[in-house]
Amino acid sequence: MTDTLTPTAQNIMRAADLLRRGHLVAFGTETVYGLGADAQNAKAVAAIFEAKGRPHFNPLICHYENAEAVFAHVEASDPARQLASTFWPGPLTLVLPRRVTCPVALLAGAGLETLAVRVPAHPVAQKLIAALGRPIAAPSANRSGGVSPTSAAHVLAGLAGRIAAVIDSGPCRVGLESTVLDLSGAQPFLLRPGGVNIEALEAAIGPITRGITPGQAEASRTLRSPGMLLSHYAPALPLRLNATSVTPDEGLLAFGPRLSGAGVMFQLSETQNLNEAAAKLFEALHWLDAEGCKLGLRAIAAMAIPDHGLGLAINDRLARAAAPRN
Ligand code: TXA
Ligand code: MG
Repeated sequence: MTDTLTPTAQNIMRAADLLRRGHLVAFGTETVYGLGADAQNAKAVAAIFEAKGRPHFNPLICHYENAEAVFAHVEASDPARQLASTFWPGPLTLVLPRRVTCPVALLAGAGLETLAVRVPAHPVAQKLIAALGRPIAAPSANRSGGVSPTSAAHVLAGLAGRIAAVIDSGPCRVGLESTVLDLSGAQPFLLRPGGVNIEALEAAIGPITRGITPGQAEASRTLRSPGMLLSHYAPALPLRLNATSVTPDEGLLAFGPRLSGAGVMFQLSETQNLNEAAAKLFEALHWLDAEGCKLGLRAIAAMAIPDHGLGLAINDRLARAAAPRN
């Protein structure tokens, strides 16, 4: 059962409380409705992917109350500060390097070293973030592959029964998603045109590379930093999938009862809960990789994950991490 809440002060507190307890709440922004979760709660973030029926983990935008809160979690640069002071709050998302101390769940950024951040202009969105006191991770509030919602009715058409509540703040003013600009490389890349036009951005910070797809942008960044797979975190150690046995020189990525002979191990979910496993996946890969390299292990062996629900996204991610690299 999904509650539809009018945006009263009391309902915003109630929505913030639902988020604090790990539930999903959709809310209007000036661009489109977002499907929100507490960005620092990995399980809640995993639930976003489940509710959307996403077959893979796309990185999500984290919504902050103001620029100061943003720059406490990601590294500021001169162009980032410049754009923040001109366009925030508003329909602009910046992709910036995470600070090492950034408490946002790795899953929210799909394991990347960067994070997409924005300060929405809609007063209800702002009040909700302030009431939670933490950033809210939110993709557009539609089922995977569907059209972005610009009203509470659109949200309910796709997600009724899958989320705790939607705050109905009326139709979205911009009606188009935010512009996504990647400032994490040597040159600014336009990853997605949106609510702020590129000429306005260029007037503030100079030339922006455009007319390329995100894939090309990532490929070009990968070329600039050889050996680093920026599009998706790949561990340094080789990853072996569907392991039914494990050797002493392998770290085990366990899902359910551990394999006999396992030494170094990270348990994704003792009870084989896919939501719990999704929430821990990137943390597990980082940890096994670091631990394995320290101990001189040869590989990471991953136990099989069922191919349904969030298992699809987990397996998509594991297959990418295991893909041959050079
Ligand atoms: O207006 C909007 O941006 C809306 C409202 C709710 O804020 N949100 C939205 O989120 O459109 P979503 O998840 O539908 O789109 C996020 C886009 C995706 O294209 C994603 O690939 C990109 O931002 N993105 C997120 N994090 C990224 C990162 N670290 N690096 C590169 N691209 C990233
Ligand atoms: Mg979307």
